[in-house]
Amino acid sequence: MSALKVAIAGLGTVGAGTLKILHENAAEIALRCGRNITVTAVASRDRKKDRGVPLDGVKWFEDANAMAAEADADVIVELIGGSEGIARKTVETAIANGRHVVTANKALLAHHGVALATAAEKAGLSLNFEAAVAGGIPIIKALREGLAANKIRRVTGILNGTCNYILTTMRASGRSFADVLKEAQDLGYAEADPSFDIDGTDAAHKLAILASVAFGTPVDIKAVHVEGIRNVSSLDLQYAEEFGYVIKLLGVAERLDQDGGMLTQSVYPCLITPDMPLANVEGVFNAVVAEGDFVGRSVYEGRGAGAGPTASAVVADLMDIATGRKVPTFGIPAASLKAIPNVPVAAHVGEYYVRLLVVDRPGVFADIAVAFRDEAVSMESVLQRGRNAANVNVVIITHKTQEAALLRALKRLQANAALVEPPHMMRIEK
Ligand code: NAP
Ligand code: HSE
Repeated sequence: MSALKVAIAGLGTVGAGTLKILHENAAEIALRCGRNITVTAVASRDRKKDRGVPLDGVKWFEDANAMAAEADADVIVELIGGSEGIARKTVETAIANGRHVVTANKALLAHHGVALATAAEKAGLSLNFEAAVAGGIPIIKALREGLAANKIRRVTGILNGTCNYILTTMRASGRSFADVLKEAQDLGYAEADPSFDIDGTDAAHKLAILASVAFGTPVDIKAVHVEGIRNVSSLDLQYAEEFGYVIKLLGVAERLDQDGGMLTQSVYPCLITPDMPLANVEGVFNAVVAEGDFVGRSVYEGRGAGAGPTASAVVADLMDIATGRKVPTFGIPAASLKAIPNVPVAAHVGEYYVRLLVVDRPGVFADIAVAFRDEAVSMESVLQRGRNAANVNVVIITHKTQEAALLRALKRLQANAALVEPPHMMRIEK
């Protein structure tokens, strides 16, 4: 059988990693596919940069979009990034020119996934994106194929390697947020704009894609409630540990009513107990827990970012195309994806962690207690520590309460002159 011809746009962390696997494991890949996978063309900005792999005989394009139209290739692999501009154009051009697409670009799929899937399916082409969610974990394949017989009730995951690396390294070493973020960038984990990682945007992109595949609903990034880890301090990590929890940035998508159908999609830092499967997922590792009606709970873990794991997923997608394995982009035809009404996060009911930095003077604690009492928010545990300091932290774990009620209590406290900074609040997932 003739080789599958591939053109790669973007030769950064993931693009260079993809070239490396295709080069080093060419024999195993060919054996498993029954044919070779050959890179015929590449496009990147800097032609002089050493990519660590031979590119002899590979055609170089200055313009990725021109490559998508003109290259001698069956598949265009888009590894540039960004939801708009050249990445979007390259993918659209590839599909318009009858070429399959493989991409690791979650931002693009979160914003234009349905339109691109519709175009690809109309043209009888594959649009594969395993690398876009949870790096080296084959979670798209698991949901789209392995668990395809189930109604999925809930998908929960640690979906951003950079954030998990920052939270676990800060907790273990006490190092500063900025210092650990720089390290994650140097290791090739972070997005080109790292605010996408630390503000939760990247995890939200991934959650919206997962929700689409799990629940057969159009990707809807606007429906995802997003909070990042910018305000999670070493102090919060320590207090959480004292109360018997660890802090993780989680993505949670849950079908609340299988018959009527309501969906909640959120990304937020939260406290979880050490016995939960996600609690011991450390460093750059991601994990996803999927719960289906027949399979029950199914847990997946692996490296969530970096050249090797991400490129491994890109090449797996190429191998599916080489062998002719084809599934609709989001598991069902794009035209059959059905919108599900979303539940706002204020409707959330659960336990909460609250930290208040207050002036250490008589009566302040009574004010806090009154605000909580008036909104019927009950406290489970309270901790106040500090001597001879002007300000002290009051840390409260609540009993199960409505989020809207807690937010009202905290809003009242913000008007209190004793509060030194806005309250810190995190959900507790049990
Ligand atoms: P990166 O290291 O910043 O690489 C981006 C590449 O795109 C570079 O090679 C750059 O060229 C090239 N590029 C930028 N603008 C271009 C243009 N106008 N025309 C042609 N090439 C252009 O990014 P990355 O980390 O590999 O990420 C690539 C994609 O994979 C993104 O969508 C990202 O979200 C996704 N992803 C990344 C990871 C990860 O761990 N890094 C994991 C999963 C998914 P030069 O090298 O010539 O400057
Ligand atoms: N910046 C992303 C992360 C890359 O840290 O998870 C993997 O998608």
